[in-house]
Amino acid sequence: MSITSRETVQVFPDSAALTRAAARDFVALAKATVTEHGVFSVALSGGSTPKRLFTLLADDSQGELAAPWEHIHCFFGDERHVPPDHADSNFRMANESLLSRVNIPTANIHRIRAENPDAATAAAEYEADLRAFFTPRNLVRDGFPRFDLILLGMGPDGHTASLFPGSSALGEKERWMVSTWVEKFKTHRITLTYPAINHAAKIALFVAGADKAPMIHEVLVQYKDAPRYPVQFVRPVDGEKLWLLDAAANASA
Ligand code: 6PG
Repeated sequence: MSITSRETVQVFPDSAALTRAAARDFVALAKATVTEHGVFSVALSGGSTPKRLFTLLADDSQGELAAPWEHIHCFFGDERHVPPDHADSNFRMANESLLSRVNIPTANIHRIRAENPDAATAAAEYEADLRAFFTPRNLVRDGFPRFDLILLGMGPDGHTASLFPGSSALGEKERWMVSTWVEKFKTHRITLTYPAINHAAKIALFVAGADKAPMIHEVLVQYKDAPRYPVQFVRPVDGEKLWLLDAAANASA
């Protein structure tokens, strides 16, 4: 296997321009992948920037941003430990902004059953769901799923998905999905692990807003060669890592 990993940074004047570019990229990649392989797998993220992307994809799903939804499978990179109708649920956000508004078959929506009172069981069940999708389609590489696209955000503390600084989840080498206690929110989260993320063909990291500028400076400039924050260990083994920033987040980079 040829190992070709690329990391690119794109900066947009504002979050509207970022969202528009991300939506065009999403649709172009989905179309090309469906044409080539018949199916497109994407892991969705929580967060405010993905929400704007989801809304735009749905708003224009009959126009320029029409995507082959009948062949797109939507997964989740992480989930809060709440039922699907809870205000904090990533599934609820994606469903309301996008999934309920486009022509995607119900069977193509793969949510994390985070209503399970035991977060570890919810993670194990979701890993089994992922294996049931990726294994028969021959989309497992070195023991990990090869998503076509994983969408991620970054918190001001440098977390991504639900991989928070200091979490035991950061050291996971074998499982695809784990539960993790997040002390700052006093709750469990359910998240993809690094090896599961890093085997994706493409990882898009959305970061917008001035509150992210200090951490963007740390991860892309100050500690670029001496990584210390969770988002910096997102490193595709054979794929592309694309940062999409707005000018405010990039202000001091
Ligand atoms: C979540 C996300 C999380 C998010 C970042 C950035 O479930 O909240 O997966 O990792 O992407 O916290 O969120 P914002 O885009 O809202 O700043």
